Amino acid sequence: MVDSGSILVTGAAGQLGAVGRTVTGLLLDRGLPVRAMVRREDDRAAALRAAGAEVVVGDLLDPADVSRIVSGCRRVYFGMSVSAAYLEATVTMAAVARDIGVDALVNMSQMTVSEMSIQNTTSSGQQRQHWLSEQALAWSGLPVVTIRPTMFLESFFQLAAPAVRARGRIEVPFGRGKTSPVAATDVARVVAAVLADPGPHLGRIYELTGPRSQDMHGVAREFSDALNREITYSDIPAEDWERGIKKWGVPEHLTRHLVAMGELHRAGRYDRLADGVERLTGRPPMSVREFVSLHAEEFGGRRL
Ligand SMILES: NC(=O)c1ccc[n+]([C@@H]2O[C@H](COP(=O)([O-])OP(=O)(O)OC[C@H]3O[C@@H](n4cnc5c(N)ncnc54)[C@H](OP(=O)(O)O)[C@@H]3O)[C@@H](O)[C@H]2O)c1
Repeated sequence: MVDSGSILVTGAAGQLGAVGRTVTGLLLDRGLPVRAMVRREDDRAAALRAAGAEVVVGDLLDPADVSRIVSGCRRVYFGMSVSAAYLEATVTMAAVARDIGVDALVNMSQMTVSEMSIQNTTSSGQQRQHWLSEQALAWSGLPVVTIRPTMFLESFFQLAAPAVRARGRIEVPFGRGKTSPVAATDVARVVAAVLADPGPHLGRIYELTGPRSQDMHGVAREFSDALNREITYSDIPAEDWERGIKKWGVPEHLTRHLVAMGELHRAGRYDRLADGVERLTGRPPMSVREFVSLHAEEFGGRRL
């Protein structure tokens, strides 16, 4: 594949998983030129610029912005934060990428899509939009690589950290459902590997999980080991979960997505194992214990 132009990374400022931000750093470390797209000029944009990226500001829902930022790039990572307008952003990117012509479009999706069909969908608008987005990209004829990670370990910052800090408990409505969360940094390592040499990956779908699938008691034991204090799992009612999320004041789209994640975990739909991380990066994915050790302060610190 002829190398021409920078690699475009969307959603590069980073909010939750910050896959785009990590991908930007990994590509720059490899000496590859990166155009990092952000929504606004702020400290995160300044940090990307200081790291060596060409920073461009734009809105993924504005076709003229998207055309301006894609122009001159042959490889694209497309990802943005969970949003009610996700499908619109994907189709806008697809229309522009077709118009300009790209060699590779690496699309962030979700592992749940692997189990979705016309007859079997979920109540999460985000997951439905990923399912539709994947189909629209397939119809587009673009050279696409699809990344389907399971729940990010970083989601525990949002979902579990306050109760772990306050009460030493992970309070989620996952029942006995098993889960295999993956670090967003591992997801970013996969995306960077694909963008650095997309040819062999075009048309492929990569499912990404952590190293083991276990119920939340198992996850809590890994938290305990990492923090050197007892962390337990408390299976809370779905209504308490929904009430708690609503108190955060997040958009309805995200509330519905998190409620659906709870239901799907309980139904065993996150009990999956895939080898995508190791296959593409040559390194096994990070465990819950390693992740919590790295971020011990977020969870109230490690007891000495
Ligand atoms: N979290 C999980 O457990 C999980 C699991 C599997 C898959 N995923 C998928 O991963 C993706 C999220 O990735 P992530 O966690 O790396 O993203 P992120 O860090 O939450 O956000 C990426 C960036 O997208 C930007 N953005 C949002 N709307 C935009 C718009 N209209 N125009 C331009 N930029 C916009 C945000 O900018 P600002 O910060 O400036 O607002 C944000 O910095 C979603 O597709 C999600 O479905 C997530």
